[in-house]
Amino acid sequence: MEESLYSESGFFNTTKVRSNIEGDFLTSPEVSKYFGKFISHWMNENKIKSNVVEIGAGTGSLATQIQEYSTNNLFLVEKSNTAFRILKQKEFNVFETLDLIPVDKVNLVYMNEVLDNIPCSVGVYKDGVWLEKIIKIESDSLSYELAPMRPENLTWIESNNIEPLDDIEIEIQRNATKYLEGIVSRFNPNYLLIIDYGYEFHERSSIPYKSLIRTYKNHHLAGETLLQPTTTDITYDVNFSSIKNCLSRLDYAVELHTQKEFLQLNGFEAFYKKIQTKFQNADGLDKLKIKSDLVGLEAINNNRGLGGFKMLIAKKI
Ligand SMILES: C[S@@+](CC[C@H](N)C(=O)[O-])C[C@H]1O[C@@H](n2cnc3c(N)ncnc32)[C@H](O)[C@@H]1O
Repeated sequence: MEESLYSESGFFNTTKVRSNIEGDFLTSPEVSKYFGKFISHWMNENKIKSNVVEIGAGTGSLATQIQEYSTNNLFLVEKSNTAFRILKQKEFNVFETLDLIPVDKVNLVYMNEVLDNIPCSVGVYKDGVWLEKIIKIESDSLSYELAPMRPENLTWIESNNIEPLDDIEIEIQRNATKYLEGIVSRFNPNYLLIIDYGYEFHERSSIPYKSLIRTYKNHHLAGETLLQPTTTDITYDVNFSSIKNCLSRLDYAVELHTQKEFLQLNGFEAFYKKIQTKFQNADGLDKLKIKSDLVGLEAINNNRGLGGFKMLIAKKI
């Protein structure tokens, strides 16, 4: 996953940015220019001003929205060369890694659709033991094999109380939790806000897929992961139970909402009604533009789409 997504010829390092309309998938801030307004509402309610860090900023759409409605002291971290260049052109304060950010005191670290792109391992429970699904590299093909599980991955499974489930592979999201530990050890922020598609472990048995790893290309599911390395987005549903456990261990009080719930708590309905009234009173091209704003707002709030994403708020105890 690391090679396919982030190596020199990886999916996130080609000539185009992947998270917008010309790319391969659309994120909430690309769908609605108001997504950041609701996050800003939450930030303002909690008096979060500076400093703020966004991880995996992509095109910078969310950062632009957040700058418009709340903080100006925003630092971005972006791993993709392509996105990094665009963020620089837009004159953001952007860095390749966390360590390069020139401040130590950070109030909030937030990220949208980043953890699902952090490489995971795969655990398979067979004949009473945990194994890892690994990828065999041959001169002209890639194939799956099973190997004994690395002790650190076994520890991750045990520390998250993950029980084997019939015919289900477990995405071991140790790199994601390690990344969060790194953020906390670097900045000890007062708040983290993590937005992504995902589930809590007690929900896993009711999700009807053996594996939650999947690929996207040109806004569609793209089939078998191994057949198209570097040309598809490889992603998986985030196990929010493991994120909760990790942040609780690091002394954070954690709340988990759906995106729709978060929006509702942060002024969505009143704002939607305001735009609806504007729509009713507008004419011509203006009316079309406002219609498109309404469609964007509906999409980020729809429970069966982006509104069903999870938003985890962690507050330092
Ligand atoms: C799915 S895109 C989301 C972009 C943006 N957050 C949005 O909502 O539109 C994920 C982005 O996170 C970046 N990324 C992934 N892992 C990262 C890491 N460890 N540090 C910084 N950026 C990362 C990728 O390069 C990519 O631009």
